[in-house]
Amino acid sequence: MSAGAVGRAHPRLEGPEKVTGTARYAVEYPLEDVTYGWAVPAAAVRGRITRIDPDPALAVPGVLAVLHHGNAPRLSSDVEPELYLLQDPAVHYRGQLVALVVAESIEAAREGARQVRIDYDTEPHSTVLTADHPGLYRPEKVNPSYPTDTSEGDFDAAFDAAEVRVDATYRTPAYHNNPMEPHATTAQWRDGRLLVHDSNQGSTAVQAALAELFGIPRDSVRVISEHVGGGFGSKGYPKAAVVLASLAARQVDRPVRLALTRQQLFGPIGYRTPTIQRVRLGSDADGRIAAICHDAISQTSTITEFAEQTAVYTRSMYAAPHRRTTHRLVRLDVPTPFWMRAPGECPGAYALESAMDELAAACGIDPIELRVRNEPTVDPDQGHPFSSRNLVACLIRGARRFGWGDRDPRPGARREGRWLVGTGVAGASYPARARASAATATALPDGGYLVRINATDIGTGARTALWQIAADALDVPPERVTIRIGDSDLPPAGVAGGSMGTASWSWALTRACQELRDRLGHHSGSLPPEGLTVAASTADEIRAQKPMARYAYGAHFVEVRVDAETGEVRVSRMLGVFAVGRVVNPTTARSQLIGGMTMGISMALHEEGLLDERYGDWVNHDFATYHIAGCADVEQIEAEWVDEEDSDLNPTGVKGLGEIGIVGSAAAIANAVRHATGVRVRDLPIRLEKLA
Ligand code: MOS
Repeated sequence: MSAGAVGRAHPRLEGPEKVTGTARYAVEYPLEDVTYGWAVPAAAVRGRITRIDPDPALAVPGVLAVLHHGNAPRLSSDVEPELYLLQDPAVHYRGQLVALVVAESIEAAREGARQVRIDYDTEPHSTVLTADHPGLYRPEKVNPSYPTDTSEGDFDAAFDAAEVRVDATYRTPAYHNNPMEPHATTAQWRDGRLLVHDSNQGSTAVQAALAELFGIPRDSVRVISEHVGGGFGSKGYPKAAVVLASLAARQVDRPVRLALTRQQLFGPIGYRTPTIQRVRLGSDADGRIAAICHDAISQTSTITEFAEQTAVYTRSMYAAPHRRTTHRLVRLDVPTPFWMRAPGECPGAYALESAMDELAAACGIDPIELRVRNEPTVDPDQGHPFSSRNLVACLIRGARRFGWGDRDPRPGARREGRWLVGTGVAGASYPARARASAATATALPDGGYLVRINATDIGTGARTALWQIAADALDVPPERVTIRIGDSDLPPAGVAGGSMGTASWSWALTRACQELRDRLGHHSGSLPPEGLTVAASTADEIRAQKPMARYAYGAHFVEVRVDAETGEVRVSRMLGVFAVGRVVNPTTARSQLIGGMTMGISMALHEEGLLDERYGDWVNHDFATYHIAGCADVEQIEAEWVDEEDSDLNPTGVKGLGEIGIVGSAAAIANAVRHATGVRVRDLPIRLEKLA
């Protein structure tokens, strides 16, 4: 019997701590004898450091040390080249963190960082992605481990023979993750053990990486990440800040606090690669697609390879007997791109869902009807059945709620005063996965329960959702349950990433809680003072999952107003309808979904990393010059969901919803702009001059 906590709206458990300022973030723990780090970015793009003069920095009162490749403690592993920091003089991109100043105060550290003198030997650099770059190559696989290319049937012949053809190339610029809390760490060594308070999306992985880098056992490293101010993927894997702070703490033999500056987030922490995407769709006159091809080009660095899985979205979204996807990559003298909210699906869906709109227009078919006509019965990529697929349900419900039925499909047909008004739609999907995790559940003699798992709440409400799930699994009122997360001393768990946090963690928690209930059923007498604890792990169960296509789906509906004189675009209405399995907490779920959709507004209209080839770096390194949607840019925004039961996922039936909100949202806006104005913009962002 269920206690019924799942499905109920509940404010975040840690909300009062956060709004009263008592929730501690990584560099906010009170600490004796603490010192402050300030990172020094390279001023060269490609080359080597020939000389570092730390003396002017050391002359600043309060400066304790200047760490660089010539004096930093040695790391014992270079298996992660991205984390092999301050070990050699090579410079791979402008802004690479090549030194660290440690001081008694943050002000002294900053001034010291300004004073470090560095000379470089430089070489010519290549920093701009082009479709004909001579360095284009075919990576072995794309993130995280998808095949690079796929092919089914005979795309070329089927495309040639198609009655209606769309052949369009879409471009997206570099996008930068900007969580409110920057990458930040407080590191301290005590008797050979490393303790870090760190801002990340999964401290089990940070613990493992630090143990490897410093050549110490995992249980000599403890990572505490109780509250995390966002990540968007950039904190899904250990990055520079935690390694630099740990190196520095060892060097000065005192605790070190290091927070990257807002400017230092533009590059060193990863970013979404720019993409060049050619999409070809060939259909009959009724819009039945025979041939789909998606060729994606993106960039990586010279340090390590990250290959965005841009065309993977197209593999499973719409039916067509003849299909092909490819990924090509160029190594440039740039920072390594990395995960940013829905890597792959986000830029890929912009291209495919735009091309679907172009095909609908070319066939003279409503874009919703076009999507319905091309619904696959099984996953077109792997041939597996779908655990559940409710794209059409989302489209139909959204169309009704949005008032799509009255739409005049002619572009530029609706004008209200100075505004051209248009509407657009796009589909969305995101994989529903889970990663092995472990958890414990304890029954306490006072009637309370304690559940423990090293989950991370990056602001999503994960702590609260897990607490609700545990209460139901224990079949007790949630008030009797205490949850502990965010500490690598807790049972190891997967990251808050890939929209699989809740699915992964709730699975392990549920198993631990069920097992505890079972044991309590057989237990007679009173509990010992430490209570009764059971542990569970989902590794075997997840490995034994049968192959199946598991995806969340969604449909975005957008109304835009475009100023006929200036080309200003306003997103006046945005509705997302999603099929995301069971919704644990409607309050936090809605917040995740509209957060993703808002990032879609930014992507469509505002965000753009502008690279100056001469300096090999982005010109815009702050919120004054790198624009994201502000409150005034978001007028009416709503997210809702269809009831969906899916028993093939995990015990809770959740699909994950952290990322699907951004998938397809920019396409829906671009499609609405096309409908309003007749102008199809194929390179984001949609700025005034592109509508002239
Ligand atoms: Mo998300 S980009 O997988 O944290």
